[in-house]
Amino acid sequence: MRAARIGTCGGSFPGVAVTDVALIVRPAESDDWPKLRAIRLEALTDAPEAFGSTYAVAAKLSNYQWRSMIERSLYFLAERDGNVVGMVSGGLNDRHPGTHWLYGMYVTPIARGSQTASLLVDVVVAWARAEGATELYLHVTSIAERARAFYARMGFVATGVNFGMDRDPRLIMMTLKKSLVDG
Ligand SMILES: CC(C)(COP(=O)(O)OP(=O)(O)OC[C@H]1O[C@@H](n2cnc3c(N)ncnc32)[C@H](O)[C@@H]1OP(=O)(O)O)[C@@H](O)C(=O)NCCC(=O)NCCS
Repeated sequence: MRAARIGTCGGSFPGVAVTDVALIVRPAESDDWPKLRAIRLEALTDAPEAFGSTYAVAAKLSNYQWRSMIERSLYFLAERDGNVVGMVSGGLNDRHPGTHWLYGMYVTPIARGSQTASLLVDVVVAWARAEGATELYLHVTSIAERARAFYARMGFVATGVNFGMDRDPRLIMMTLKKSLVDG
């Protein structure tokens, strides 16, 4: 397997990570909405405690709404041999100007423990850096121990800002951040 690298998409988009011909992470395009819908519904079924939204809410979205979400926001899909095995989203952070968010991180069980998750984060980091962001923030539920261990390995640290999830305040959301300035 070749070393991971961050390449370009369409000539200028700093957001495609390639490890070998079989695994790519790329920005989702409008026509990818069925793929985004499938992996997002899988995520909300497999790890409902990890996300603020629910399967019930997401399953009711129309095809038009899925397409619009891709057109309005930035989603990345991880594909292995053409099959979607993970997703993540990136967004601006209004609360902390000059910083960005990482949202909706998910890797399908058979692809866990591989390079997929780290490549998804690498791509969001590359995008945020290219936008001039100095830090990348995310929320993780305190009971998602695997996700917390993963984010710690990727250089995210606790900010100390924790709160109960809107839909279920018993689920504590931890705010983590990673500096994009060094390294
Ligand atoms: C979070 C997620 C994307 C991470 O991807 P992954 O491929 O599982 O991550 P990795 O295997 O590279 O890393 C997981 C780490 O957790 C550790 N781990 C595995 N099971 C664990 C457990 N039950 N408790 C604590 N740590 C655990 C692994 O040893 C590894 O740590 P290490 O690299 O220091 O050895 C993936 O697990 C996932 O999609 N989970 C469900 C959805 C979710 O929680 N999303 C996060 C939303 S914020």
